Amino acid sequence: MGVFEAVKLTEKVYWVGAIDWGIRDFHGYSTGRGSTYNAYLVLSERVTLIDTVKKPFFGEMMKRISSIIDPSQIDIIISNHSEMDHTGSLPDTIKAVKPEKVFASAMGSKALLAHFHWEDDPVEVVKTGDSVDLGGMSIAFIETRMLHWPDSMVSYLPEEKILFSQDGFGMHLASVERYDDELPLSLLEEEARKYYANILMPFSPLVKALIGNLSSMNLDIDLLCPDHGPIWRSEINWIFGKWNTWAEKKPQPKAVVIYDTMWNSTRRMAEAVIEGLTLEGISGRLMPLRASHISDIAAEVLEASALVVGSPTINGRIFPSVAECMNYLGGLKPKNLVGAAFGSYGWSGEAVGELNALLEGMKVELVSEGLRAVYVPDDEMLENSVDLGRAVGRKVMDLCRGEG
Ligand code: FEO
Repeated sequence: MGVFEAVKLTEKVYWVGAIDWGIRDFHGYSTGRGSTYNAYLVLSERVTLIDTVKKPFFGEMMKRISSIIDPSQIDIIISNHSEMDHTGSLPDTIKAVKPEKVFASAMGSKALLAHFHWEDDPVEVVKTGDSVDLGGMSIAFIETRMLHWPDSMVSYLPEEKILFSQDGFGMHLASVERYDDELPLSLLEEEARKYYANILMPFSPLVKALIGNLSSMNLDIDLLCPDHGPIWRSEINWIFGKWNTWAEKKPQPKAVVIYDTMWNSTRRMAEAVIEGLTLEGISGRLMPLRASHISDIAAEVLEASALVVGSPTINGRIFPSVAECMNYLGGLKPKNLVGAAFGSYGWSGEAVGELNALLEGMKVELVSEGLRAVYVPDDEMLENSVDLGRAVGRKVMDLCRGEG
């Protein structure tokens, strides 16, 4: 027995991916529990490898494949998604196994060329509706453009009732457990939500369409095999439902308050805002930027109906950490938010005005022009901060009642 073994999923399909126990920063996303790069081997007559792994894990994938077959027996490689966590080892894999065919979408073919600058492009293009004969089995392709890259597609193996969904329905979670029902659902929800928030949130309208499309196709799915995290077998409908809910982003009595602070003045205002939200029955999450990663903030914003932002003014600007967070959240395009800005200043106080403009740029509905405290908030300013929280809270409650 070798160090790295393939994991049998069905009579014909094996997991041959890699576990990245140590990764804590996935292109800026904090991956506190590591990740996996899932690859799948189909032992049809024409042996097929679905996706590969991040480049440093090429050896691990090849060892898992070698635990059941000689890798040179692979006839077909399917690249469902061109991002390098799934294709970093594709050139080495092609070199090692010399497949007869490599399939990708048209945009995948372009993306792979732009990554690897092949002299002899090995990729054959497939599109939605195409099906490839694997010998005794077949695999069908469904393009899922912008979920989350232009090249993205999923592959369906009807004989085994498996949907290979690339990043779709995935999460960053390293574990020895390969299946959803071997892990606590609360853990899956936490990591799936964070993944959705940071990778899929900007594309929520397309997610709704995809889920509608998949359900109208009536695919029989026993296993939903993403490229990250556990394989879904018991909670397939649950994860579809979660994605649908996150894509809809209906009003909920939740609010996120983010802030940074120089001399604790903006912090005190932030704490008062949370008190106001609480008085209105809102579940408020106070996230100091010195102690909160932007990818965790995104995960909270996904389920929030309000975003309240505090920043001191420094050299006529927003505090740098607040600007960074707003830049990141703006790119994720969170929908259906109300909000407000606040902050302390010494002599010019531009931060609140700049935050208002940024929030409006994100289509956040402002409930007030914001609050600015000179140097240190006095009791009256802190009461005003509580009132600001209450005003935001009332607006969220109106939205939750459908009155907004
Ligand atoms: Fe897991 Fe978009 O790559």
